[in-house]
This record gives sequence, C-alpha cells and structure tokens, in this order.
Amino acid sequence: MLGSIALLTLTGTALGADGSGDPAAVTEQDGKFFDAQGNPTFKIGNKGETDWYTYSGFRRHHSECHVCHGPAGEGSTYAPGLVQSMKTMPYADFQNVAVNGRVNVGSGQESVMPSFGTNPNAMCYLDDIYIYLRARTNGAVDRVRPPKHADKPATFAEAENSCMGH
Ligand code: HEC
Repeated sequence: MLGSIALLTLTGTALGADGSGDPAAVTEQDGKFFDAQGNPTFKIGNKGETDWYTYSGFRRHHSECHVCHGPAGEGSTYAPGLVQSMKTMPYADFQNVAVNGRVNVGSGQESVMPSFGTNPNAMCYLDDIYIYLRARTNGAVDRVRPPKHADKPATFAEAENSCMGH
C-alpha cells in the first residue's frame, strides 16, 4: 500500500534526468523556470498548463526546426530526432550546435545542420525551443500543440521586442 502511494506522488513531480541533469524546476524568474543547475527548464502547472516558454518553443520549433527535425522533434530521414538528442545533450552543446551549425561527413552522405547564429527567429527563442524539447524528452508534453499554457510574461515581451529589433 505504502509503495503505491509513493509511486503516485512521484509520477506527478519527478521526471528523471536528461543531458542537462534533473529537469525539475526549482527557481522561477518572471514565468521562466530553471533547474537546480541553473539550466532553463519547463514547468507544468496544476491545471495541466505549460509555462509560456514551452508553448513558445513549440511554435518556434515548428517554424524553424520541424522541416528537418520532424514533427515534435521526432526526427526525419534527413536529421536526428532532437527529442532523442536531448536525452544526452547538455544545454551548452545544444546552444553551440544551434548557433554554429555542424557538418557531418560520414558514410558517403553529407549531413548539414545550418548555423542559426544570425537568424533572429531562432536566436531570440533558443531557450524556448530548448525548453520545449526538454519537456518533450521528459514526456511532459504531447506531440500536439500544448492546449493550455500560461500567459506571456511582460518581461518576455520586452526581451522579444529588443532581440527582434522592434
Ligand atoms: C536544413 C535542415 C535543418 C534545420 C532547419 C535544422 N536542423 Fe538541426 N540538424 C540538421 C542535421 C542534418 C543535423 C545532424 C548534423 C550532423 O550529422 O552532425 C542536425 C543536428 C542538430 C543538433 C544536434 C543533434 C545531435 O544529436 O547531436 C541540434 C541540437 C540541432 N540540430 C538543433 C536544431 C534547432 C534548434 C533547429 C531550429 C532552430 C534546427 N536544428 C534546424 C538539420 C537541420
């Protein structure tokens, strides 16, 4: 009996670990969440709503990354599934590949991850995309558009405007 009670408590909160460690949110800054290591992470509210960044990341992944990495980060014949990659990939490595790109010449087939370093539609939302993929990797959000999400924080709108040069 005790065992099953403990299990119920766990499934609600503990999510295991990925390439950046334990994804559990321990701090918040204006609607953006961070894990114990200070890496950005997701947070599912008590009404099942995602944080704003997870939702924003879904949208940006869809417009900038989906074409190669497949729907919901599940991969394609051309590019790896980022939901898989995140299981072992630390935050800094993710940023590095997204900013600088990567060319892999192996087995006679060239595979190119373009550099997004000068693309504001990716760079201004890189944490969002990371947070979304982290949520996907840990099974916190489904494949579809998150149906409920927190409102856009005022600080997000300000940062977005200055990053996009508005
Ligand atoms: C034009 C196609 C294309 C687009 C668009 C694209 N990628 Fe990639 N990406 C690739 C390919 C191909 C690879 C594998 C490169 C290699 O083999 O080294 C890759 C690799 C990666 C990796 C490393 C994965 C691993 O397992 O090591 C990350 C992280 C990544 N991409 C992030 C992104 C993000 C974030 C976006 C959207 C902002 C994006 N990619 C958009 C083609 C693309």
